[in-house]
Amino acid sequence: MKGIILAGGTGTRLRPMTLIMNKHLLPVGKYPMIHYAISKMAAVGIEEIMLVTSKQSAGLFTEYIGDGRTWNVSVTYKTQETAGGIAQALGLTESFVKPSEKLMVLLGDNLFEDTLKEAVDAFRLQGQGAHVFLKKVDDPQRYGVPELLNGRIVRIVEKPKVAPTSFAVTGIYLYDGGVYDVIRSVRPSARGELEITDVNNAYAEQEKLSYNLLTGWWTDAGTHRSLLEAGIRLMERDGT
Ligand code: G1P
Repeated sequence: MKGIILAGGTGTRLRPMTLIMNKHLLPVGKYPMIHYAISKMAAVGIEEIMLVTSKQSAGLFTEYIGDGRTWNVSVTYKTQETAGGIAQALGLTESFVKPSEKLMVLLGDNLFEDTLKEAVDAFRLQGQGAHVFLKKVDDPQRYGVPELLNGRIVRIVEKPKVAPTSFAVTGIYLYDGGVYDVIRSVRPSARGELEITDVNNAYAEQEKLSYNLLTGWWTDAGTHRSLLEAGIRLMERDGT
């Protein structure tokens, strides 16, 4: 299984820090944010990771991560010339993944407590499809929200005005190698981006989207407060 970490974006909600620094390099506890995404992938046994980021900050990422040996993984880089959405960024990694291979995709700003080993191992054995991780939240309308029926995700609504459930679809995704064909079939949304939610909905339509719930804390570290809270939690875990 290959690993893809998406670490582009403009980090609007974290200004002014993100005017000079890519969000994923901001300090969270003892480390820059990106550190945790690599650790999570290494922890489920992924050995080869591709990191997608904007060209402005690529140098800082390579300075910190290098070839990945600190985590005992191999990291290569892809620059996103123009921001076109999460699914567009994922599409850039096609040559890195064999059609027969599976991939784990992590949005670099998703910080969480759960170990994903069990779910990832189960997905490794699963023939095809996609898998998402849900988390119960107080403010689902900020996220992609699943509509559930008989224990199945019927579809996901991106940032709904009225949320169908109180779950957020987190930025942790598992896909079969067919995801790149799905991305090609997706059209830009009203905000002009290729949405990862549309990719997931294509799997849901075919009844090939499985899920499980995260039980530990989770945050997408998108605001100053959530960034601070994540920092404190990780600091407590990692010690001073
Ligand atoms: C993205 C996805 C959304 C998901 C969220 C998790 O939103 O589009 O479905 O719930 O990540 O972090 P964004 O943070 O890009 O607005």
